[in-house]
Amino acid sequence: MSALALAPAPRSRTGLIPAPAPELQLPGVAFFGRSLAEYAQFFALDPAALRGRDVLDVAAGPSSFTAEACARRIVAVAVDPWYDRTVAELTAQVQADYARMAAQMLAQPRLFRLKAFPSLAAAEADRRGAAERFLSDYATHFIRNRYVGAALPRLPFFDGTFDLVLCAHLLFVYAARFDYDWHLAACRELVRVTADEVRIHPLCGLDGRPYPALARLRRELREAGIASEVRAVDYEFFAGAHSMLVLRRAAA
Ligand SMILES: C[S@@+](CC[C@H](N)C(=O)[O-])C[C@H]1O[C@@H](n2cnc3c(N)ncnc32)[C@H](O)[C@@H]1O
Repeated sequence: MSALALAPAPRSRTGLIPAPAPELQLPGVAFFGRSLAEYAQFFALDPAALRGRDVLDVAAGPSSFTAEACARRIVAVAVDPWYDRTVAELTAQVQADYARMAAQMLAQPRLFRLKAFPSLAAAEADRRGAAERFLSDYATHFIRNRYVGAALPRLPFFDGTFDLVLCAHLLFVYAARFDYDWHLAACRELVRVTADEVRIHPLCGLDGRPYPALARLRRELREAGIASEVRAVDYEFFAGAHSMLVLRRAAA
C-alpha cells in the first residue's frame, strides 16, 4: 500500500473532519441543454437583434437555442462532440443525463437559485421541453450542417466566420476535467472563429465557486492580444452563475 493511501484524513482545529464543499456530482460532461429564452438571460442577448448575424453555439449540447434561433431566421450553427451520434443515441443520452441532473437538483437544492424559474420542477420541465425541440430539429437539420461534430480546443471553421460565438456550461464548470492550458487554448480558439465577440457563461465550477485562475487567464489572453471583460448578468440558476466573460480581439 502506498504512503499516500495511509495518510490520515485532514482534520480541522476542532478535531472534526471538515465536510467537503457541496458540489454537483456528475460522472462526465453532461449532455444537457437549455432554451433560447434561458440563453438570452445568461448571455444578456436580445434575440431580435441577432437576426442577420452569424451565431455559433459551442459545446451546444441539446441546443434548443440553435433550433429556435434558426426558426427565427437567425443564422445559427451548433458544435458539440456528440453530434457524430444518431438521434436515437442522443435521445438515450438525454434521458440518462436529464435523470441524473434532476436527481442532483433534488439532492442538493441549496446549490440552486429560483430566479429564472419558480421552482426546480419548472426548470426541469423547461429543459426537457428544450431537449425535445433539439432532438426533433437534429433529426431534420443535421444533414444541413446546422449541427457540427467537433471539440474544443479545435473548431473546423475559418478565422472570423461568426459575428457572435457563445459557449455555455463547459469552460470553468468542468475545470477538474480540463486543465488551465486547455482553457487558455479554448478561449483563443473561440476568439479565432469570431469577427466580433465571444461570450462565455458561467465563470464558476460545479461547487459554485469562481474559477480560481480567471485573473491569470485574462492576463495571458491580454498578452495574446485578446481583451476580456467580466459582465454581470440578470440571471442565476446554479448558485454563483451570475456573470459572463466577454472576449474580443484587442484593438491594434
Ligand atoms: C452541460 S452541456 C451545455 C450545453 C449548452 N451549452 C447549455 O448551456 O445548455 C456541455 C456540453 O459540452 C460538450 N463538450 C464536452 N467536451 C467538449 C469539448 N472539448 N468541446 C466542445 N464541447 C464539449 C458536451 O458534449 C455537452 O453537450
